[in-house]
Amino acid sequence: MPRTVVFDQTGEPDVLHVVDEPSREPGPGEARVRIEAAAVNRLDQLMRAGHFPRPFRLPHARIGCEGTGVVDAVGPGVENVEVGDAVLFAAVPAMDLDGTYAEETVVAASSLVPRPAGLDAVTAAALWVSYSTAYGALVEKAGMRPGDRVLITAASSTVGLAAIQVANQIGAVPLAVTRTDAKKARLLAAGAAEVFVSADDDVPAAARAFTGGAGVELILDSVMGPGLADLATAAGPRGTLVTVGWLDPRPATMPTQAPLTIHRYMSFEHTLDPVVVRRMAAFLGAGLRTGALAPTVDRTFPLADAAAAHRHLEQGDPFGKIVLTV
Ligand SMILES: NC(=O)c1ccc[n+]([C@@H]2O[C@H](COP(=O)([O-])OP(=O)(O)OC[C@H]3O[C@@H](n4cnc5c(N)ncnc54)[C@H](OP(=O)(O)O)[C@@H]3O)[C@@H](O)[C@H]2O)c1
Repeated sequence: MPRTVVFDQTGEPDVLHVVDEPSREPGPGEARVRIEAAAVNRLDQLMRAGHFPRPFRLPHARIGCEGTGVVDAVGPGVENVEVGDAVLFAAVPAMDLDGTYAEETVVAASSLVPRPAGLDAVTAAALWVSYSTAYGALVEKAGMRPGDRVLITAASSTVGLAAIQVANQIGAVPLAVTRTDAKKARLLAAGAAEVFVSADDDVPAAARAFTGGAGVELILDSVMGPGLADLATAAGPRGTLVTVGWLDPRPATMPTQAPLTIHRYMSFEHTLDPVVVRRMAAFLGAGLRTGALAPTVDRTFPLADAAAAHRHLEQGDPFGKIVLTV
């Protein structure tokens, strides 16, 4: 029986444990995927810790919204994938029921996209959530264009690192924000045009100075919190702020300057839409082929060590994706 990570109550990482789960045959429109690697995301951590934004099944909640594997069975009516196809999960909206921390899962076949050629399973597992979020927020939502100066907070997060590469792929200018100077050199090596250290710099003033006083065209924020209104003053007239994360759990202050366009981005808005998913896959595939995009993997853990992987997410200060190997 396939090994599957579940938890029966929310709490510390140790609530995660492995059980043998009966295999399930796919129903109409479904495909079963033999998983090779699954990535660890902040959303998984929020769910496990009891801060998930919607009710979910307990006890026996599955977990994991990202990964890659090979289709090993398809249900009636499935036309977009065949047995033997290597795939990525584009969206796992009910991860308590079909989470990817497992040897196999059954999902809607429409939520699968082909695994880009040439990617090993660990790198492929690290691709979709951060890059589709960065692309979706910056390009689909905010309309990023070549030459735009893009201020990226939490730039060493997986979404931030992806955003630096996506901006460079478009010909925009990624300006990274990090809290201390510990990761400055790595962010420059990752493609940031400039790095601002929030512990040392007045970030909005430094960003305005970088643009000769004009202000940036775009801000991608993964932090929110009480610094949001001040951060927004880095934008020039008719600038755009798109928030994707909430790494700072404190209440956010809303920007009041005008004119500023503000978007709150959730990737499900796009990853459940096959038309946008096709564009996302095309963009990411092109970037991988040219080398503009290359997922950063922090480290791997075996599936059975999912609890240790969550502890590393919370305490290990990772730089890049944490991946579970199956
Ligand atoms: N909207 C969506 O659909 C979507 C999709 C994916 C992720 N997200 C969200 O996006 C955010 C980033 O996710 P991720 O997985 O990329 O994160 P991650 O890789 O775990 O990011 C960790 C990094 O963020 C920075 N950071 C952590 N706490 C911070 C704080 N309080 N203030 C400022 N910076 C902080 C740190 O960088 P430094 O040490 O360099 O400062 C840290 O290394 C999360 O809130 C996640 O839930 C949203």
